[in-house]
Formats: sequence, structure tokens, C-alpha cells
Amino acid sequence: MPKSPSEEQILVRQSGPLSGSVVVPGAKNSALKLMAATLLADGDYTITNTPHIADVPIMATLLEALGVVVDSSRMDQGILRITNSGSITPVAPYELVEKIRASINVLGPLLGRFGEVRVAMPGGDDFGSRPIDMHLAGLEAMGATFTFAHGDVIGVCERLHGAEITLEFPSVGATENILTAAVFAKGTTVLDNAAREPEITDLATMLVSMGADIEGIGSGTLVIHGVEVGKLHSADHRVVPDRVQAATYMSAVGVAGGEVKVIDAIGEHMDMLLKRFTDMGMRITPTEDGVIAEASGRLKSIDVATLPYPGIATDYKPLIVTMLSVADGVGIVTENLYPGRFRYVEELQRLGADIRTDGHHAVVRGRESLSGAPVRAPDIRAGAALVVAGLVAKGTTVIHDIHHIDRGYEDLVGRLRSIGADIERI
Ligand code: EPU
Repeated sequence: MPKSPSEEQILVRQSGPLSGSVVVPGAKNSALKLMAATLLADGDYTITNTPHIADVPIMATLLEALGVVVDSSRMDQGILRITNSGSITPVAPYELVEKIRASINVLGPLLGRFGEVRVAMPGGDDFGSRPIDMHLAGLEAMGATFTFAHGDVIGVCERLHGAEITLEFPSVGATENILTAAVFAKGTTVLDNAAREPEITDLATMLVSMGADIEGIGSGTLVIHGVEVGKLHSADHRVVPDRVQAATYMSAVGVAGGEVKVIDAIGEHMDMLLKRFTDMGMRITPTEDGVIAEASGRLKSIDVATLPYPGIATDYKPLIVTMLSVADGVGIVTENLYPGRFRYVEELQRLGADIRTDGHHAVVRGRESLSGAPVRAPDIRAGAALVVAGLVAKGTTVIHDIHHIDRGYEDLVGRLRSIGADIERI
């Protein structure tokens, strides 16, 4: 794992056409949740296709503070071994929780298994407030009680009981916490308007291999028949490929042109996005082991709105805004998940992009090209989008604060260079 002290930067020069192939690693937003799920049952777990990203050791440190043993010695092959010997302290301290949002995913397993949990409240994010009210309301419906003290949320319960829960909004985190708590509830929990992201399917699939009884996996209604605590056991699992990293390489082809096979990308998980890439003039061909992305000439502008899965993910949006910045025409982008998630627009404007934002909307007037400049990565996805923008900016683009990119991308620079991008990390 490359270290990213603050002075490290990514330098990108105008590049393309790109060619060759890249392999997409496992998904951050699955791997971190699978790691948290190992709290549910004693035993040895082998998680393969684990991405080599900075958030994985952070989650490992949190799990170790709770009492499990994490062996990262084979992470060069994407293999993480986790041993849960049952001596768990269900207290997640602020210093570890505040580093990554996914740390809130220990809430459901700890509460469901031990009937008590104390987790520091996760703070906001660069793109806005990120409450957990839906997580707590769902767990309360199953019999938990929560209090707040000194910045922590403290949950207690006797054995949780099944409940009918309808989420106000298909929240990814709330779905995961309710699901991982309900596996031990007495009776059946029906979770309606559940999030359907492929990473949730991945988690539910691992829970089933651990002995959980879950119906409706992949749908908006999860039916969880609780089992006794002793009934779950450890399991091995392969992390689902990362659709956002896959989209990043495809968008790189979109702006720089060329033909690249994105190996392990699962077309079905990106259906809506791939249609929109096609609308923009790219040629997208799903194959048995990946997706081939091709582009030549200038992209066409389209309008895009982010929505929960299977809609266009908010995590793709900085990539789409970057593509529209150099597309022919005007595109309107509407953000429906995080109103504040347009901060990176100022950085794209430094590269010459013509973008106006108004509340949830951005109007992007495409330019023929951008102009290289120093910029800062404000978060993981926006950071990657700035790298992609650098491929189509005349001169050199220098991206600072790249520790954000390292949180979710495994060797973005090496992968882009392998398909012909003029890029280096200094
Ligand atoms: N929300 C609430 N109350 C809640 C939960 C969510 O109001 O109790 C709101 C949020 O404020 C937000 C919306 O619902 O406006 C969606 O939040 P959701 O719970 O679905 O998102 P999350 O679980 O916090 C995950 C990913 C994000 C991704 C979103 C949406 C992880 C660790 N994070 O966050 O990924 O953007 O789902 O798909 O899985 C990233 O990887 O860079 C990233 C930010």
C-alpha cells in the first residue's frame, strides 16, 4: 500500500487514446461491510479479492480494537484472514470510528449478537451531514433502546425481535445495519424499501453462507428469519468487483478516447450507467469476464440524475460531470442523495470547466478541452474524477490531497499508466 504523506501528488498530462486492459479490484463498500460482519460469529474467515486501499487497514484496526484478529500478511494477493475467537468488547471509540463512515457497520452485528453496543457517532462528511436516524429507528422497531452520551450512541436490547420495517429512503448503511442485526432476532424481520446495491447483495450472500436465513436478496424487500446466536458460523467470501472503480476506467476512455477492457467489471451492476455512457457516444460491450469501453471523438452531453440503485449512483457523479465538461452541448446533473456533493466543481472550474451549480443541480457546458492546473482532491470519488479530468486537460494537472483517492482506489496511477495514460505519482 503506497503511503500518501501530504506532499505526495499525482501528475497527469493530456493523454490518449488509451488501450489495453485493467483489472477491477474488489469493492471498498463491500469489503468493509464484510469485515464488520465477521463480528457476528466465531471462527476463521478468509476474504478474497479484498482491495488494497487505505480504508481496509483502518477497518482492520477498528475490528482489532473490538477483539478480532486480522491477518493482512497475504494482502498482496487480496487475501484477508480474520479470526473471531468470541472475546469481543462492543465499544467502538471515536478515534477509529471518525476515520471512515463504514465503521458504523459494526453497530448492527454488535447489538444483534451481544445486546449492547457503544459506538461513537460518525461525523459529517465533506459532502454534507450523514445522519443515522434510519439505522436507529429500524433497530428500535426490533426492540433496541438508544441513548447518547459524550458523542457516543449506546444501544441495549434483550434478544431483538422480528419487525416490519419500511425505510423512508433506501439507505445503504441502514439496510446493512438492520440486516446484520436481524439475523439474530427472534422471529421474522421484513425490511421494505431496502437498498439494493450489489454490495448489499454481496453482504447478504456472505451472511447466508454463515448460516443466516434471508429471502429477497437483491430486491427491495428483505425477509430475514432470525436464528439463535450459536447457529451462525464463519465463512469464506470473495468481494464483489468495484463498480465505481470500473466506471472510473470507462470514464477515462470516454474523455481520452481509445479501447480498454475493464476486466472483472460486472455490466449488470452498472446497467443504467452503461446505457448513459452509450447515450454519450461511447461503445460499451459487456463480455464474459468484463466490459469493453470504446470512445472516439467528442462525447455528447446528456442530462443525469443520481438515484439509489439501480439508478445512477451518486458515487459516479463526479466522473459524469467531468465527462460532460468536455462533451458537446449542455448537460444538467441533479444530485438526489447528498445536496452538498458538488464541492469538487470548484476544482474542475480551475481546470477551465464551465459549470454552474444551483442547489441540487449543476449545469455543465462542455468545452473542447480543459487546461491543466494544480487542484485538490476533496473526497475519494471527486479525487478520481480530477485525475480523469487531467487526461483531457492541456499541459499538466497536479492533484494534491491524494490520500482521499488512496482510501478507495487500488493503484489508480499504475492502472491508468498501464493503459497508456501519461501519469505519475510523485
Ligand atoms: N440518510 C439519512 N438517515 C440515515 C441514513 C441515511 O438521512 O439514517 C441519508 C443520507 O444523509 C444521504 C442518503 O440518506 O442523504 C443516503 O445515505 P446512505 O445511507 O444510502 O449512504 P451511506 O450508507 O452513508 C454509502 C456509501 C457511499 C455512497 C452511499 C450512496 C459506504 C461506506 N458508503 O453511504 O459511498 O455514496 O452509500 O450510495 O458504503 C464512497 O464510497 O465514496 C461513498 C461516499
